[in-house]
Amino acid sequence: MRIIIDTDPAMGTLAGDPEDSFAIMLAINSPEVDIEGITVVQGNVPAEKGFSNASHLLDLLGRQDVPLKRGCLRPMNPRRSTQIRWLERRYDSRQIVEKVEPTGKDADAVSFLLETVLAAPGEISLVTIGPLTNVAVAMQRSPDFARSVKRIVMMGGTAECAGNISPAAEFNYWQDPDAADIVFRSGADLTMVGLDVCHQTHLSPEQLQESTRSGTALGKFVQEATEPWFNARSRGGSRSLHLYDSLATAVAINANLVTLEDSYVEIETGDGPAQGMSVSHHKRFQRAIFGHAETNARVALDVEAETFSNLFRDRVLAFILNER
Ligand code: RIB
Ligand code: CA
Repeated sequence: MRIIIDTDPAMGTLAGDPEDSFAIMLAINSPEVDIEGITVVQGNVPAEKGFSNASHLLDLLGRQDVPLKRGCLRPMNPRRSTQIRWLERRYDSRQIVEKVEPTGKDADAVSFLLETVLAAPGEISLVTIGPLTNVAVAMQRSPDFARSVKRIVMMGGTAECAGNISPAAEFNYWQDPDAADIVFRSGADLTMVGLDVCHQTHLSPEQLQESTRSGTALGKFVQEATEPWFNARSRGGSRSLHLYDSLATAVAINANLVTLEDSYVEIETGDGPAQGMSVSHHKRFQRAIFGHAETNARVALDVEAETFSNLFRDRVLAFILNER
């Protein structure tokens, strides 16, 4: 299976959400997957930091051969002041990895997405584990992009539960609601892996300590990068990390991990308190009432959490433990 991972990796930025990088490790250690490239987008951290973080991870994994591209630096709508403030505050966060600047075409993730997908229509899937800015800009630049992509498996949104960044919205869609709206209207084959299922996945600090104890370069980096995050979570009362992005990646590999329902999903693009909310009409009677004859996505409503957890243990935790 040929995939591009579109991501906002913060492992490498102290107190940043480390989770995208586990998803990258999962993809890299999955024999079913050929990674065509990794495109970095604004989100958890500014894309400048995300690019350095991804570059460091690929170095540690010995996978400098994977094309790495930096994409959009801001949400599509320059008036999204709360989201832009969120991003700008993260320029102050301390980096524990070397700063790496992309040169030439490596600074143009959108062109990479367009060229790679349009050269192989129907063959390449996107796994999006950050805001959808890069993907939506690619859709705007070429009307062929949405129909040429094989499918898009997205970590984002919520089908039935509350949000995480706001009471209404999940972070990835909230951070660029206009982009999410473009993607849901695009006609591409979409799978939404939202909070409903991601919140059933957990990684405890003890599990991670066990896998980093061998003290390899990768183990030390993971330990150093994740400690502040776990400490912050402990203060908030929850000691485990949800594996949002890893679950979406696992679903791209094996859709049977989740129960999917056809749905018509709309994104709230107003600038009120529900901005970025995903409104999922996966109940047939709701589609009938609100006149949505068509569906535009499949949404995940339940997950085989233990099967996923075993997969994560075998392909990520065991890898961190044994990597030399
Ligand atoms: O809402 C969860 C998403 O935002 C994930 O992609 C994770 O990386 C987080 O920051
Ligand atoms: Ca992410």
